[in-house]
Amino acid sequence: MSYWDQVAEAAAFLRSRMGAFKPHVGIVLGSGLGAVARAVTEAIEIPYSEIPHFPQSTVEGHSGRMVIGRLGSAPVILLQGRVHFYEGYYPSEVTFPMRVLGVLGVRAVILTNAAGGIQEGYRVGQLVVIADHINHMGWNPLAGPNEPRFATRPGTGLRFTDMTEAYSKRLREMAQRAAQDEGFTMDEGVYLAVSGPSFETPAEIRAFRALGATLVGMSTVPETIVARHMGIEVLGISCVTNLAAGLGEARLSHEEVFEAGRQVERKLARLLERLTLWIATMVEAEL
Ligand code: HPA
Repeated sequence: MSYWDQVAEAAAFLRSRMGAFKPHVGIVLGSGLGAVARAVTEAIEIPYSEIPHFPQSTVEGHSGRMVIGRLGSAPVILLQGRVHFYEGYYPSEVTFPMRVLGVLGVRAVILTNAAGGIQEGYRVGQLVVIADHINHMGWNPLAGPNEPRFATRPGTGLRFTDMTEAYSKRLREMAQRAAQDEGFTMDEGVYLAVSGPSFETPAEIRAFRALGATLVGMSTVPETIVARHMGIEVLGISCVTNLAAGLGEARLSHEEVFEAGRQVERKLARLLERLTLWIATMVEAEL
């Protein structure tokens, strides 16, 4: 069975579970950031294990289920838990869920993640809007034959995907307004993706800072690339769960990352509740 057919089969299965419900906004929740899923009403929960061909998360803190319902009053599809390259998955598997969202008709995604803070002054627990990224994973999920059927509108699904405004300016502005309404502000940063699973060395962090990165993490970039290939608008929000290697006192651990995520997840949930309705209203007006 071709990759396209697998994605189409997963999408058909989900459509059969959703009935007439048709969300145009997708949200991916990072490590320890699951609170948003609990704010979803009229929720249909589907474990990844029930969805045909869907990859299963092996990491603690990534529960591995889809939650379809309303956030605020906006229809959404949430991916609670993602799979990573460091778990041994192929790039095509890492981005499989994003492909499914595209085929289901999602027009904008909010990608959240836990990240190490590289920029001086970043504090644990702060939310940073991703303005741009640096792909340092050593691979690109679009390598291999191009599949034009993934296009969601004309001029997308191309062999060569433009990444000039990978992270939508208008969504970033909307996110800033939503944060303001919630009583906080967010910096904008540059997210550098590594393949992991080892954390970085202090020398690597110094090098990444010199390259212009302010955040480092092990996800999001493949999803963004694939979303842009399909013509899906992307908003990225990082939660600084730790200071990057060599910048803080402590050694880095998954527990620390996970705990810091837990402490900010409610703030993120409130932000996304407000923001998702705005985004949904905007993209639906443009259909
Ligand atoms: N490095 C890479 N990935 C991460 C980190 C980090 O310091 N924190 C959370 N995800």
